[in-house]
Amino acid sequence: MAENVQIKAVVMTVSDSRTIENDTSGDALAQLLAEIGAEIVEKIIVSDDFENLRQTLYALAERADVNLIVTTGGTGFAERDNTPEATRAVIEREAPGIAEAMRMETLKKTPLAMLSRGVCGIRGGVLIINLPGSPKAVRECFDVIKPVLPHAVNLISGKTGHGA
Ligand code: MTE
Repeated sequence: MAENVQIKAVVMTVSDSRTIENDTSGDALAQLLAEIGAEIVEKIIVSDDFENLRQTLYALAERADVNLIVTTGGTGFAERDNTPEATRAVIEREAPGIAEAMRMETLKKTPLAMLSRGVCGIRGGVLIINLPGSPKAVRECFDVIKPVLPHAVNLISGKTGHGA
């Protein structure tokens, strides 16, 4: 089988309170991505402010050296949880199967999975995936998407793998 496209990922922690010193979810996510061979292009912490989130996601999704943005946090029911809305404002096409699979599969481990409103979608050649904020949730959800991430990135990069 042909080689996979190199995953060039941004890890984006969405939080008003986390700092580089205590970004446990961002650290866990970066490690999980590195384990599947992804290059971590950027690891950032962004506040929950909608406009700031939207602009940051937009700027990252326009970059030629990025094909995956994985966010953690800001997907719940609190008033400041704006990650799904900011993501929806940036994506051109939704990828509901990824978000649905994460909720459905991890619901077998905890009913709390119902409380994440995370969405996934595509802008140009970039896949954006929202994960919940806790390191535990990051690990549980990443386990679900891990088997399809390389193929998903191949597809948005124009590599179908369906022959010449
Ligand atoms: N999903 C999984 N798999 N495991 C979890 O522990 N926690 C939930 C949920 N999704 C959880 C999960 C909780 S407690 C909340 S409040 C929501 O994600 C939203 O979290 P966020 O606002 O930090 O994104």
